[in-house]
Amino acid sequence: MAYENILVSTKGPVGLITLNRPEALNALNKALMTELAEAIDVFEADDAIGAIVLTGSEKAFAAGADIKEMQSKSYMDVYKEDFITANWERITTCRKPVIAAVAGYALGGGCEVAMMCDFILAADNARFGQPEINLGTLPGAGGTQRLTRAIGKAKAMEMCLTARMMDAEEAERAGLVSRIVPADSLIDEAIKVAERICSLSRPSVMMAKESVNKAFETTLREGILFERRIFHSTFSTEDQKEGMAAFAEKRKPQFKNR
Ligand code: CAA
Repeated sequence: MAYENILVSTKGPVGLITLNRPEALNALNKALMTELAEAIDVFEADDAIGAIVLTGSEKAFAAGADIKEMQSKSYMDVYKEDFITANWERITTCRKPVIAAVAGYALGGGCEVAMMCDFILAADNARFGQPEINLGTLPGAGGTQRLTRAIGKAKAMEMCLTARMMDAEEAERAGLVSRIVPADSLIDEAIKVAERICSLSRPSVMMAKESVNKAFETTLREGILFERRIFHSTFSTEDQKEGMAAFAEKRKPQFKNR
């Protein structure tokens, strides 16, 4: 498929999507987000792909929604097209793991897209922020919700109310990112993590992702019940039998994704 705003490639079982509007620091316009959703559809449907890495450039993961594209929209325009939610949410409905590899700016919609992924690996030059308040608006793709759940009220409130950016170190301390890696090894490291995930039982990976996500959407009691039932269901898979037999026999498991 020919894309104009993203680059798409595969590294073995890993699908790599690179946001590619360098002239606008990967500002997320409609065309880019449509292509991103399509690329996720393609990888989701491809049985050979077990995980996806989403990245940008060394200067910017993405500097936000495209301000020039949205500046003249009316209330009716944004209401009718359900602006922002429409295809942005495709990242969150992907059942395969999606890792955000963030270098440089992840601002506004860029930070929100990174937070829609399953986890964020940050380069040491990464900077996160929700600067929409500078534009006379506020985050519109989940920033006030996902950032608050990720780092707590005090930091999220300060970032949303003042547009203060967080560097990678603070983001790691606050729990926004899983790890920091040197900028020049970010993609290699993200692919390595994705390959590790791909080497495991895909149904178990998908179920673990579903179960962790449940923690954000339900009560503790309901979440624990969901986890227990889905844990029980793994006992019907060949991979659970293989994984536990391999442990007992002191050998590497050969998962068949069944
Ligand atoms: N939308 C459109 N274009 C953008 C953009 C954006 N979000 N961010 C950067 N650009 C463009 C700039 O206009 C500039 O283009 P020109 O050369 O044609 O003027 C180009 O990218 C390079 O940007 P700068 O010259 O500004 O680069 P810099 O290094 O001096 O500054 C920056 C970098 C601090 C990230 C600065 O570009 C900036 O503040 N960008 C806007 C960040 C922002 O406000 N993001 C929130 C957007 S609203 C949103 O995302 C809503 C939501 O919740 C979904």
